[in-house]
Amino acid sequence: MEPLPLKDKIAVITGSASGIGQGIALRFAQEGSHVACWDLNLQGAEATASRVKEFGREAMACSVDVTQSSQIEAAAKQVFDRWGQIDILVNSAGIIKANFITEIPEEVWDAIITVNLKGTFLCIREIAKYMIERKQGKIISISSKSGKKGGLWLGAYCASKFGIIGLTQSAAMDLAPFKINVNAICPGNVFSTPMWDLLDKEYSKKLGVPPQEVRKIYREKVPLGRECTVEDVANVAVFLASSYSDYMTGQAINVTGGQEVH
Ligand SMILES: NC(=O)c1ccc[n+]([C@@H]2O[C@H](COP(=O)([O-])OP(=O)(O)OC[C@H]3O[C@@H](n4cnc5c(N)ncnc54)[C@H](O)[C@@H]3O)[C@@H](O)[C@H]2O)c1
Repeated sequence: MEPLPLKDKIAVITGSASGIGQGIALRFAQEGSHVACWDLNLQGAEATASRVKEFGREAMACSVDVTQSSQIEAAAKQVFDRWGQIDILVNSAGIIKANFITEIPEEVWDAIITVNLKGTFLCIREIAKYMIERKQGKIISISSKSGKKGGLWLGAYCASKFGIIGLTQSAAMDLAPFKINVNAICPGNVFSTPMWDLLDKEYSKKLGVPPQEVRKIYREKVPLGRECTVEDVANVAVFLASSYSDYMTGQAINVTGGQEVH
């Protein structure tokens, strides 16, 4: 790869207050990109933006609820007004809750589908307008290995993550004439993220084991023998955001240590 494959690119990253979104924001900064950090958690987004600046890049933090189109429109305009272009969108905002299928409360179903799937759609819909104008752009959405295969107690989450892959394929077709690449990443289990503090407790109930044994069980399912890291996901995100992936669109790439191969 070139020394700085994302030099002077402008990236919008949702869910960048923590976890995978934050990791991608910092890695993009290392690779030369300026970053707009969007999240419900403004304080967290501001902290990520400060760390982006430590790499000598420019950054902005915005309080954005990805389920609210008016907030997305306003924040996208703010990014465009500041930098005059938007080159990359990463959709990483997401939530999870594990329930047996007959016990998924309707409001939990609605929340998961609305944040994970509708939120991804709304951000693509708005940011793509700026990319179409310039006939270039890279859109990357974080799906999951749960977007490729159903899982125990994960009806709502899997439905949202499968949906992201369908949305990715369709948006890729619509946006191909404008040289905009639309792809998804399907990570395995990233234990270092705040999401897993919740999952330890929920999966311990579903598996009937103490919370401290959950990660061992999940690690043993991975052919490469370890959990996924934020860096593993960021490596693929840099590739998909760079010109090295110019001939790839509509893909959903597994980063699962061999756990998912389709
Ligand atoms: N952690 C894993 O094991 C794992 C595996 C596969 C996929 N994923 C996916 O990766 C993405 C990032 O998850 P993570 O593990 O970094 O979790 P995380 O909880 O650290 O990050 C999610 C971020 O999204 C933000 N967010 C939630 N609802 C929002 C909304 N309505 N509007 C704007 N921001 C909102 C949260 O404030 C948080 O900062 C999610 O889409 C998740 O489903 C995670």
